[in-house]
Amino acid sequence: MPERKSSEEKSMITLDGTTYQPKAGESVLECLSRHGVSVPSFCQSGVCQTCLMRAVEGDIPARAQQGLKESFKKRGFFLTCVCAADRPLTIERSQAAERFSSRILDVQALSSRVSRVYLERPSGFQFEAGQFVQVIRREDGVRRPYSVASLPSADHIELHVAVFPGGELSPWLSSSVGAQVELEGPFGECVYVPVEPERPLVLAGTGTGLAPLIGVFRAALESGHQGPITLYHGARSASDLYFTDELRSLLSNSQHRIIELMLEGNESEVDSEPLLERRVGDLVDVVLEEQKAPPAARYYLCGAPDLVHRLKKKLYLKGASLDKIHADPFLSRAPQAGA
Ligand SMILES: Cc1cc2nc3c(=O)[nH]c(=O)nc-3n(C[C@H](O)[C@H](O)[C@H](O)COP(=O)(O)OP(=O)(O)OC[C@H]3O[C@@H](n4cnc5c(N)ncnc54)[C@H](O)[C@@H]3O)c2cc1C
Ligand code: FES
Repeated sequence: MPERKSSEEKSMITLDGTTYQPKAGESVLECLSRHGVSVPSFCQSGVCQTCLMRAVEGDIPARAQQGLKESFKKRGFFLTCVCAADRPLTIERSQAAERFSSRILDVQALSSRVSRVYLERPSGFQFEAGQFVQVIRREDGVRRPYSVASLPSADHIELHVAVFPGGELSPWLSSSVGAQVELEGPFGECVYVPVEPERPLVLAGTGTGLAPLIGVFRAALESGHQGPITLYHGARSASDLYFTDELRSLLSNSQHRIIELMLEGNESEVDSEPLLERRVGDLVDVVLEEQKAPPAARYYLCGAPDLVHRLKKKLYLKGASLDKIHADPFLSRAPQAGA
């Protein structure tokens, strides 16, 4: 008679010849971390792709491959932080994304909190505007994801970095011209889709969520997009809104509009040009109020995670299809086990 295994035994995780026993409800990342196995991780929510590993044997749940490139899926890569450890898996560490050497070329202040960081474009580094890269400090390996605002045709990579005082990487990135970094990626699907040139595009984001949206806007213009493009940029106050002149320069076509929104502001800070408005309002409310036919448009939502999740849900409930909503919530580092 075949030996009957308990459900826990059935879900063993094997890595480098050692087998680890998960607890009920654990993810693969949690199981490995609890056993003292170090796996790089960051958001622990299936967004940043820092925790990629490869399955050599076993079935990967679809959720653990969401957002990965098709070629990664086929090769068995998966996100350990959102992979339930409820099945037997033999896995390996594997460098999924290519790594490139780069250098910080220049840093410019865009506002009191946001820096524009120019990186050297490594040869062979292919990406699409709006995707994100992992920027890795060479001296200690600290890494964070940042979205690319520049086009692939530019000879540099442009990032918009919000500086968090006391943060491990953002203050350093915005004050270390000449320093060496490594880049991994690109990742993410927040990219211009050239197949429907007449479909309206709605780009909405807060803070440095503007960076990928600018990338998408620039890519759409470069490929001759014919439908209207509306960009909503939200911030707490007027001093947190940045890049207004550069945004104005994107308004080559009178169908396109830009709306800058402040949560707090007074009459003197409100402004109205024919195609570029600055007003007080909540970004989610304004987008939902203005976008009367959600199924007709393609959406790009980036920045503060609560806003991205809220807007995505509301647009979906108003009829927008999920495959027409590209979302990159800028999650920060999740508390690490044992920290
Ligand atoms: C897909 C993706 C794309 C991203 N793209 C960008 C981008 O283009 N530009 C950009 O500036 N950032 C972006 N981020 C966020 C970025 O990766 C870092 O989280 C951020 O720069 C903080 O890193 P740090 O090392 O300075 O701070 P950490 O050392 O990680 O954190 C230090 C402290 O700073 C505070 N903090 C950190 N991040 C936030 C936050 N978002 N909101 C509130 N408090 C915070 C927290 O209190 C935290 O404990 C992105 C994140 C993701 C997941
Ligand atoms: S996707 Fe797993 S740590 Fe971010």
